[in-house]
Formats: sequence, C-alpha cells, structure tokens
Amino acid sequence: MASRRYHLTTFGCQMNEHDSERMQGMLESLGYQEAPSRGEADLILFNTCSIRERADERFIAHLREAAAIKRRAPGTVIGVGGCWAQSVKEQVFQRFPSVDVAFGPGQVHKLAEFLTSDSLTAQGYFEFESFTGDLPAKRARAFQGWLQISVGCNCVCSYCIVPSTRGRELSRDPDVLVAEVERLAADGVSEVTLLGQNVNSYGRDLARERRIPFSELLRRVDGVDGIRRIRYTSPHPKDMRSDLLQAHAELPALCEHIHLPLQSGSNAVLRQMRRTYTRERYLDRVAEIREQVPDCAITTDLIVGFPGETERDFEQTLELAEQVGYDGAFTFIYSPRRGTEAATLAGQVEHEVKVERLERLVAVIQRRAAERAQRFVGRTLEVLVEGPSRTDPSKLRGRTRHNKVVNFHGIGQAGSYVQVDITSASSQTLTGEMSILACAGR
Ligand code: SAH
Ligand code: SF4
Ligand code: F3S
Repeated sequence: MASRRYHLTTFGCQMNEHDSERMQGMLESLGYQEAPSRGEADLILFNTCSIRERADERFIAHLREAAAIKRRAPGTVIGVGGCWAQSVKEQVFQRFPSVDVAFGPGQVHKLAEFLTSDSLTAQGYFEFESFTGDLPAKRARAFQGWLQISVGCNCVCSYCIVPSTRGRELSRDPDVLVAEVERLAADGVSEVTLLGQNVNSYGRDLARERRIPFSELLRRVDGVDGIRRIRYTSPHPKDMRSDLLQAHAELPALCEHIHLPLQSGSNAVLRQMRRTYTRERYLDRVAEIREQVPDCAITTDLIVGFPGETERDFEQTLELAEQVGYDGAFTFIYSPRRGTEAATLAGQVEHEVKVERLERLVAVIQRRAAERAQRFVGRTLEVLVEGPSRTDPSKLRGRTRHNKVVNFHGIGQAGSYVQVDITSASSQTLTGEMSILACAGR
C-alpha cells in the first residue's frame, strides 16, 4: 500500500512553528509523507492559534475548505491541534462534525495513538501530558533549530488567552536541553532559538537541585560547540534582571537583540492589563540594556484600544515608543478573548478609534525604526544566509545578529555566514554588498 500522506497548516507564534515541526517528525516516524496540497492528503491537520479573533476566523475558513474535501473523499481524517482546539475542547466536535481528532498543545503525542488505533469515533485529548519538545522533529531549516525550554504561562495578563490554552508554566530539565542542543549542533544547526511564553522565568518550577536561572541556561547553550547564534523569545519585563544582561555582554553566541513586550505606555492601562510593571520600570530596563549592551536591537509588542484606553493613555504609548526608539514592533488591535477578564471590562473602545490609533502608532514605530537602522549603514555585519531574496532573486537574503533582514549581492549557501557591507537601511530591511575584504564562511 502506498504510504499515507499528511498536510499540515500552522497558525500562530513560533511555539506553534516548533510544535508543528514535532508533529511532522512524529508523523514521518509513523511512515506518513508530506502531501503537496490538502486535496492530496489522507490526513489534513491544523495547528491552531486563538490569540486574536482574526486568528480564529482565518482558521475556520480553512477548516471549512477541509470539510468540503472530506465530503468528496470521506476517508480523509481531519485533525485539529493547538491553542484554538484547547480553548474550545470537546465543543469542536459539535460545532465542526467533520473533525475526527482534536488535541491541545500538551497532547500532540496522542495524535499518533489515534492514528495507529482502530478508533472510528472522534477523539479529543486536552490534559497536559508531555512536552512537544520530546518528540522527533522535522526541521524547516537545516541550520536553525528551536529549543522549547518551557511551556505555559503563570502570568495573568487580563487580555490574554494563552494561560488557559497552554496551562501553568512547566520547564524542561537543563541537562535534557543541553543534550538537545548538542544533538542539534551535531546535525548542522548553528542558530538556536530558545522558546517559552516567559523565557526569563525559566526553571522556577524545577526541583531545587535541578533548578538553574535562565542566564545560566544560556551560558550552557553558549558552551556547545558549533552554536554560533542564540536567540530567545519572549522575555517578560518583570523578570528582566542584571544577570541576563550580563549574559548578553559576555556570551559570544548570544545575539544583540531583545524582544521586550511593552503592551502599553500608560500605567493605568498596564495596571488593568495586570502586567505588573510600570512605564518607569520598563524604561529602567531599557536604560540598563542600553548601558550593558549598547548596540542591542530592542523590539516589542504593543496593543491599542484596550478597554478604557483614553486618548491620553494612548499618547503615553506613542511617547514611550518615541523615547525608546524600537528597532521594530508588532502592533495589535485589542481583541476580546473568550474567558479573559478584559473581555468583560467596561469601556470597550470603538473599532474606528482602534484603527486610527494603530495607524498613528505604526507611523511612529516605522519612523523610529528607520532612524535607528541608520546606525548600521557603513558597517560590515555578519549575516547568516537564509536563501534568495524574496523581492529580487538576483540577491541573497539573510539576517544579522540584530535580527535585521539584509538583502545583498553576493554568493553563499543557505546556512553560511558572510560579511556584508551595509549600504542603506529602511525601517524593515537593510541592503548591502558582500564584503570583499572578509569572507567568514563555515
Ligand atoms: N508570551 C509572550 C507572547 C504572548 S502573545 C509575551 O507575553 O510576550 C503575543 C502578543 O500578542 C502579546 O505580546 C500581545 O501584544 C498580543 N496579544 C495577546 N492577546 C491579545 C489580545 N487579546 N488582543 C490583542 N493582542 C493580543
Ligand atoms: Fe499572555 Fe501575558 Fe503570559 Fe504573555 S505573559 S503569554 S501576554 S498571559
Ligand atoms: Fe497563538 Fe497559542 Fe501561540 S494562542 S500566539 S499559538 S501560544
């Protein structure tokens, strides 16, 4: 019999990208192969996100398309994993009868159990049992690897659905993580990204004799031969301590980029959001970053139109964005999420006001990012080649340690490190020429 084929669509954050690589690894170890399109698959899988309403809507449109395929080919199995599945749980089968199997982020391994059993009835699996990071992976890029250091989140940000979809924070054992990085390095990975909802609270749930701080974990990963770049996402400003900045100053592989989600520049809004820091404390952290790691890129996440946000509150976000001068930011319109505290708050902001605020914020972010990026012009930067440029195939595309995309003329295979003379910079990308003086191939 020809081997069975799967098609997987991934929505959401980098943790979902990671989890999808594990789903693929697991399916391929069961003998499944990837199908080029949904219509050619025996198993149609979705790894879902529910962070904003738009994420739900996008996914449901895809699910309807899968259901139509299944009507034509009734043997097709439809599987739904990830945060949306977890947040609706068993209701998924009533609302979408075409779904055969649904599972939360801590239950990916159960998909294998379902596929290898003779079960004909729909199954749902939603209790956390194991880290997806313990499953085999099929990496999207040979030279880049994710490292899931923890799952879940113990914060109570009032707008956020993640604590209810990913559960309480659980950390993986440091020895397991270092062994995984060693395996990744032996397999050709030179850039590793540590993943968690709140990476800098890593380890607090581990037994005392196993517990190490996040900065120490970075130190151990930095010590693995072959690892040239370390990234992590996301840290929480409340847990941003000196030892982490010290690690940035000292560890050669740790990249000069910190993604430090702010959400709002208004203390009143931050309080309502339950972010547990003030704008002043956030700015102190930024000042400390600038002092310890002067060239560090700083990026952030911002939400506009949180319930009760006044024009004055919003202006404080604008002022803070102006003052920090982010190298980039993800900006979001507040979206009420089921089961969250903020969805029930009075003072929901009108959609048109949210859109107008978003536009004003994006304008400040882009102007400041473009201004900040000028510091790279005239410098020669190390770039990890990712492949051809998306806009101009005669050029290559890669990333600097600051996580800036560079489009440049030159030669170099995906996964190699080259030196690029930066000739111009915009808010999003840098442009350059491969340096003729120095060629740091691998
Ligand atoms: N754990 C990470 C990422 C959380 S989700 C962190 O705390 O940094 C990524 C971003 O989505 C958040 O930082 C926030 O800016 C945004 N977000 C989360 N819930 C949202 C909601 N209900 N509406 C709009 N944006 C939201
Ligand atoms: Fe959500 Fe806040 Fe946890 Fe981030 S820290 S995942 S925004 S609850
Ligand atoms: Fe979405 Fe879940 Fe990530 S809700 S953003 S996939 S943690």
